[in-house]
Amino acid sequence: MNVKLLNQPFEHIDAELKLEFVTPKGLETHPHSALLTQAGFKADQEQLCALHEHRLLVCGIDATQSDELYRSAMAAAIKAAMNFTYASLKCAQYTPEHFRALIEGVVLGSYKFESYKSDPKPFKLSEVIFSNDNHDGSSNAFDVLETTLHQTLIIAKATNFVRNLVNQTPYDMTPQMMAVTADKLAAANNLECTILDVNALEKEKMNAMLAVGRASSNPPRLIHLAYKPANPKKVITLVGKGLTYDSGGLSLKASTSMVTMKMDKAGACAVMGIIKAVSELKLDIEVHAFVGAVENMIGGNAYKPDDVLVAKNGKTIEVRNTDAEGRLVLADVLGYAQENVKADYIFDYATLTGACMVALGPYTTGVMGHNEELKQEWLSAAEASGEYCGILPFNRHLKKLIKSDLADVCNVSSKPYGGAITAALFLDNFIDDDMKEKWVHFDIAGSAYTESAWDVHTYGGTGAGVRMTLNWLMEHCK
Ligand code: BES
Ligand code: ZN
Ligand code: ZN
Repeated sequence: MNVKLLNQPFEHIDAELKLEFVTPKGLETHPHSALLTQAGFKADQEQLCALHEHRLLVCGIDATQSDELYRSAMAAAIKAAMNFTYASLKCAQYTPEHFRALIEGVVLGSYKFESYKSDPKPFKLSEVIFSNDNHDGSSNAFDVLETTLHQTLIIAKATNFVRNLVNQTPYDMTPQMMAVTADKLAAANNLECTILDVNALEKEKMNAMLAVGRASSNPPRLIHLAYKPANPKKVITLVGKGLTYDSGGLSLKASTSMVTMKMDKAGACAVMGIIKAVSELKLDIEVHAFVGAVENMIGGNAYKPDDVLVAKNGKTIEVRNTDAEGRLVLADVLGYAQENVKADYIFDYATLTGACMVALGPYTTGVMGHNEELKQEWLSAAEASGEYCGILPFNRHLKKLIKSDLADVCNVSSKPYGGAITAALFLDNFIDDDMKEKWVHFDIAGSAYTESAWDVHTYGGTGAGVRMTLNWLMEHCK
């Protein structure tokens, strides 16, 4: 979808369809109030009514008119408009504050993933036009809106890039294909790219990651992408869980739980999308994205419950459940990342636990770490960006639940509750002392993927992590 901003009065803009957002109060004085009311339109949030004889689509918006409501109303409107046969649409009322939300609504709401359809449904709508001079006579500074448009398009498109990667089947998106994708991104965006194959991983003593991938015919890869501007204000390390498929391993998942496990690579896809956006925005921040791309499968050579693994940092791990594999991969990738880059902050993104969904529901990212102020910053960044985040607190008693009688630490908790937190406390074993306060872990198990549409999301990957991270980076690394 092409999104344009024109320095022209709204009424002068040539478009086949006009979109208006109407509040219940606004409906009373609307020029087509009688017609709309007759059609049953009450201006409920996201309620739609098309008056084709007037080339007008109206969309209800709640009286609070928050960014979030505008974003999801625009997504609903754009989806409806894509079912019509108009080629262009112009949008009427908005303020500079709502502009970003509206652009996101267009780009994220019009997203379709049809790579696996033999006969994708075509649509005619190709252009959405905004004016800086609205039809109510109010005018907005053109340069401010232009900057917003430029930045928002980069971030929203990076979110769709992540969704595309997540939605690929495990057959198409193997660890090797993740590496190929990273290579292509590096070439297109002028990033440095280093790929470690099994031999290199062995040399690096990344035995926990190697154990998880051992039974797969698609061998693991570690991917390191780097964006290095001339005088960076900060150095940021991002780490992503890239399980291209998680069958559970020998602790095999039940068949219904295994479906959707192609999304276990969403953390890896998110960090690739974030570095893509950072480089396109040309931010003065050095960003390193590390991905552990692995497939967790079964076989005669599979790693087993009862195995003890020696991680890259030398700590020993008792494996009691091979389905708690993400933390094993991350243990080594976090170790490698800290050894190779001295960063100001380290953030990891992982579809790590079903327990996170139990704790926070299916839409919210779990935020964990030792630095209270930093976690609060992330909550604010997430809220401003339209993502949901909730803090899950550590405590010293939960830490005892992953003690092992046999090794240094156990890969699962001895109690069935608080699984998202005990998983994060496991990762804490692989964060160096000088990085403890600079580390935040994001559990995106619920937020990264959806099987039913919500907000700006349709079926599949949501691109969770991208918008909130760009928001945090642009706010805190100036
Ligand atoms: N990839 C899963 C977590 C997950 C579950 C993500 C559902 C998205 C949706 C992870 O590897 C896993 O299987 N975790 C186990 C941990 C348990 C064995 C301690 C889980 O959550 O059940
Ligand atoms: Zn698992
Ligand atoms: Zn997993």
